[in-house]
Amino acid sequence: MAYRDLRDFLDALERHGELIRIKDEVDWDMEAGGIIRLACQLNAPAPLMENIKDYPGQRMMGGYFSNYRKAAIAIGLDPDSDRATVLDAYHQRIKHPIKPIIVNRGACQENVITGDEVNLFDIVSPMPHDGDAGRYIATWQFIATPDYDTDWINWGMYRQMIQNERILGGLVMPMQDIGYQFYTKYLPNKKPMPWATVIGTEPITTIVSAAPYGIGRSEVDWAGGLRLEPVELVKCVTQPLYVPANAEFIIEGYVNPTLEDRAYEGPWGEYSGYRTSPRAPRTAFHVTAITYRNNPIHTHSPLGVPVDDSHMAFAILCRSDMLNVLEDNAIPVLGLHVPPEMVGHTVVVSIKKPQSNLANLIASLLFGTKNTGMAIRDVIVCDEDVDVYDLDQVLHVLATKWHPRRGTTFYDNQVGMPLTPYLSMEERIWGKSARNVYDCTWPLDWSPTRDIPVRSSFWDIYSERVIEGVCHQWQRLGYKEDMKKVWETGKKLVSWE
Ligand SMILES: Cc1cc2nc3c(=O)[nH]c(=O)nc-3n(C[C@H](O)[C@H](O)[C@H](O)COP(=O)(O)O)c2cc1C
Repeated sequence: MAYRDLRDFLDALERHGELIRIKDEVDWDMEAGGIIRLACQLNAPAPLMENIKDYPGQRMMGGYFSNYRKAAIAIGLDPDSDRATVLDAYHQRIKHPIKPIIVNRGACQENVITGDEVNLFDIVSPMPHDGDAGRYIATWQFIATPDYDTDWINWGMYRQMIQNERILGGLVMPMQDIGYQFYTKYLPNKKPMPWATVIGTEPITTIVSAAPYGIGRSEVDWAGGLRLEPVELVKCVTQPLYVPANAEFIIEGYVNPTLEDRAYEGPWGEYSGYRTSPRAPRTAFHVTAITYRNNPIHTHSPLGVPVDDSHMAFAILCRSDMLNVLEDNAIPVLGLHVPPEMVGHTVVVSIKKPQSNLANLIASLLFGTKNTGMAIRDVIVCDEDVDVYDLDQVLHVLATKWHPRRGTTFYDNQVGMPLTPYLSMEERIWGKSARNVYDCTWPLDWSPTRDIPVRSSFWDIYSERVIEGVCHQWQRLGYKEDMKKVWETGKKLVSWE
């Protein structure tokens, strides 16, 4: 059964030892962000802070999706499932979207504040990092926007900073779905764009909003598919829009159809692990209502060095998008890994290679994927003997099978992600970049007996008789690993573990 709401999921995390309840008072001014950040960096349980300074009755939490254990719990898998199992479960479920259902009442509207009573400072929102421009009400949440002339509702994870009691500042990039809706529809038609910021849902509903599903596709259907149950939606109180009924907070409002109405936003610490986004005049989001549950929980992600929730969302959801593109183009892909440790800038693909230069075809397809293609710097393509989910193997294949000239293709004059630390300020401002493809496959014209060297690994260099014998007596020799079981279940695997 899918989690009904955030609280239901937090109970599950706690049962699996992945949640700490903090009763001591915590300051919203950087201390809360610092606790979440350190928990992520230590790969520790998610902190639920129940006593936030100045905000009695409101709670804050973060880091609930920052590793594969938590990602497994989020879709009801065994927390100890391996990476490939978790990734493939997400990828398979996302192929079968489920439509939402509409309900008349939602816990998210237990408390309703509208009109002049609205004050964004009444919501427990953090000052995430030292040096950030202000208090961010929205860092791990999503903005829902209805399309102007179709029934498509977009969900996107886009940050928002408090400007004053009733205005938020945020980034509306033309190449994001919200940007498409605003710049090509609401703005030319001179109509205000309704929006609702949704904070604190069961995990899938929120993480799916970080996925690049594209124009006309509603993330809510994909959330249903991943949960194996429809999402329940309730009508907003002041805007023509539906939102998840059991969310902790909903902020409703509109964006004026003009480019003159701006709010300053940024800088703030980014997913890459550096503060790269400058202070700039950005879109002003006007607030018409705040609704929330009793004793609400604010979810926060003070982005930074890997691995945190943002890297995991990228690793799982963008991977699915990339895999779909390769599968649609009949690429014989065996594995695809976007290592969260490399913040989404690197993609590792393994293939059963039927022809030469497939690495470049794969890279061209991946560079074209929506949003995510822009962030990719390296595509590493390996033969089937590499377990792409094992970073030790990826490093080894780069060290041994990648030829620095024959194996490299350099792509210049590419569209770049403006938040990328290694780009010059000029490249960041104009969104320019370059990419590399590392073909780590053996050339097809190499003879297996003459040219391709034998790999000297336990699993490759010994006869099956020796492998079986060693595995069977492994524990008797005094080691703890159950290699007999590994041999029985996975002797065809080339895992090095
Ligand atoms: C924690 C987090 C924060 C993000 N913040 C922003 C943001 O402020 N602006 C933005 O355009 N994309 C941001 N993204 C990336 C988008 O969520 C992602 O590109 C997503 O595909 C956008 O949805 P869309 O495809 O419906 O436009 C963020 C992602 C994460 C995981």
